[in-house]
Amino acid sequence: MSSETNKLLCAILTSILFLLLTSFISELVYKSDEINKNISYIIKDNSKDEIEDPELKEEKINKEITNASLAKLISESNELIGEKFIKKNCSACHEFSLPHKNKIGPSLALLLNRKVGSLDDYKYSKAFMTKEANWDLLNLYYFLKNPKEWIPGTKMSYRGIKKENDLVNVLKFLSYNTADGS
Ligand code: HEC
Repeated sequence: MSSETNKLLCAILTSILFLLLTSFISELVYKSDEINKNISYIIKDNSKDEIEDPELKEEKINKEITNASLAKLISESNELIGEKFIKKNCSACHEFSLPHKNKIGPSLALLLNRKVGSLDDYKYSKAFMTKEANWDLLNLYYFLKNPKEWIPGTKMSYRGIKKENDLVNVLKFLSYNTADGS
């Protein structure tokens, strides 16, 4: 074969290889695009659950326990055990006695019947500022059981008190908690 033919063959082979390579790469890019689309679809799908109307959710859980049944549970509970639980689980972020002192979370001295998110010198989340409610025992029950469910968007990262016993002991302590924390 002459060197001219060799050169031509070489050129043809190189372009075929080049074509194969580009189509392979574009396929890869296309596939990863598809995967990305799927991932963002899954993420979007999950966020749909979170946007569910909080009012409706609240109504649903409020049917489970009433003021009367909660009062009975609290009367059978123990504020000293509640205080111990609070020292262990809440005190890193909250102060419970006067004078009001904010930590990562707002002061919880004189909490009962206070309006939600109402201390002037604490910077609450938007979710808290716009919540129209007072801290009665029933609201505290649902908030402390699952903070993010009761106020979606709260910046309190605590996951909630999972055991009912602990929860009602804490509520008894909070309802007894006076100015000096006793
Ligand atoms: C990791 C820190 C952290 C822990 C632990 C924590 N909290 Fe909070 N708490 C916060 C923050 C931050 C806020 C403010 C929430 C907002 O503005 O969205 C808050 C808000 C509150 C409020 C609302 C007060 C108000 O002025 O309206 C209550 C009640 C409360 N927490 C109770 C508790 C109890 C009881 C515990 C323990 C069982 C606890 N928190 C554990 C950080 C914490």
